[in-house]
Amino acid sequence: MPDHDTLIIEASQILTCPGGSEPRRRGSMSDIGLVEDGAIAIRAGKVEAVGSREGIGERFPDAERLDLSGHVLAPGLVDSHTHAVFGRYRLDEYEQRCRGVPYMEIARRGGGINASVRDLRQRSEAELVDLGRARLRRMMEHGTTTAEVKSGYGLTTEDELKMLRVVRTLAAEEWIDLVPTFLGAHAFPPEFRERRAEYLDLVVDEMIPAVAEEGLAVFCDVFMEPGVYTPEETRRVLEAAVTNGLVPRLHADEFESSGGAELAAEFDAASADHLGAISEPGIAALAGSRTVATLLPGTLLFLGKSYYPPARQLIDAGAAVALATDYNPGSSPTVNLQVVMSIACSQLGMVPAEAFVAVTANGAAALRLGDGRGTLEPGAPADVAAFGVPDYRLVPYLYGCNHCAAVWKRGVRVH
Ligand code: NIG
Ligand code: FE
Repeated sequence: MPDHDTLIIEASQILTCPGGSEPRRRGSMSDIGLVEDGAIAIRAGKVEAVGSREGIGERFPDAERLDLSGHVLAPGLVDSHTHAVFGRYRLDEYEQRCRGVPYMEIARRGGGINASVRDLRQRSEAELVDLGRARLRRMMEHGTTTAEVKSGYGLTTEDELKMLRVVRTLAAEEWIDLVPTFLGAHAFPPEFRERRAEYLDLVVDEMIPAVAEEGLAVFCDVFMEPGVYTPEETRRVLEAAVTNGLVPRLHADEFESSGGAELAAEFDAASADHLGAISEPGIAALAGSRTVATLLPGTLLFLGKSYYPPARQLIDAGAAVALATDYNPGSSPTVNLQVVMSIACSQLGMVPAEAFVAVTANGAAALRLGDGRGTLEPGAPADVAAFGVPDYRLVPYLYGCNHCAAVWKRGVRVH
């Protein structure tokens, strides 16, 4: 009798990314646990076993079988930094940037993040859910099965809560797993431009407690950068976050070094993100901490910068490196982690195996998932992405397109 509870998928290569939920460092960043010409058995939404086609076939003789020869199976990708809930695209700014106006200059003129803030405040929760749904499905079609999503385009208590409720609704209704982050300190909204301390009071005394009370976020993030949040302001927000049970993460040293990586490590943040301008002490601080260095090179590419974060130096120093899209309408409008891997390999000196670990196991570590997501080890949730190429290195190599051919979420085929 066929065993309808077990599914065997056979493939040319399976990347198991072994090592549990610990962040991968140094040599283990390239340990993808490659199984050539193998098979995976999935049962009750979890990975049951991975091995040779024959071995798995003998263990589960009655299972349903799917032959994906010519494909690579990898853990469902984990995009650990996105701003996926937003209203319209920012095409006028894009055109200005193409003409050479820098991103931070556009922000100083009142555009940038605040353009998305003005837009989002006018939209209903239902409208944002619909916009978000379509975007999350596109993420899933590109192989992403878990994504972090930040608030930060509301910047009033009501609008920040609205954004996080959108994330909660989408998490309940869609297959993709979402991890919510409160980012009330993403910018200073125009009405508080001359009253920064008062806006901080609002974030610390009202927004963070309200978010915590409703259980709307796991993490709290701050855009710490010269011209945005100072180290002192950031410290105040993160202290309030910790007091209220939210775990810190940080937009750090994106364009200029201001001690962001060091501050993230000091707060035992889950991750320090961007790091385009991280300092030597910042690298040492991350290497000696649990804080994952999350690199977002798609942002620097899209913003036309000619520098990238020192991924090689970070890995060699012992920092755990993750890669994410930063998906947002201003600085990185891509949902495609495969392209981010291509940039990491061509511009950051990472090898394809490291890039895969950075978008799977280390993405999961950056979100402190702790349940085996980001791996295909027995017992892990059966979140699987199938890529239509016979060698995993072809995923970043044949760059610019979507190789994802199929996706399973907790054992259910969703794409
Ligand atoms: O990570 N750096 C700050 N925040 C986003 C950009 C958001 C936006 O421009 O809307 C980022 O790049
Ligand atoms: Fe960001």
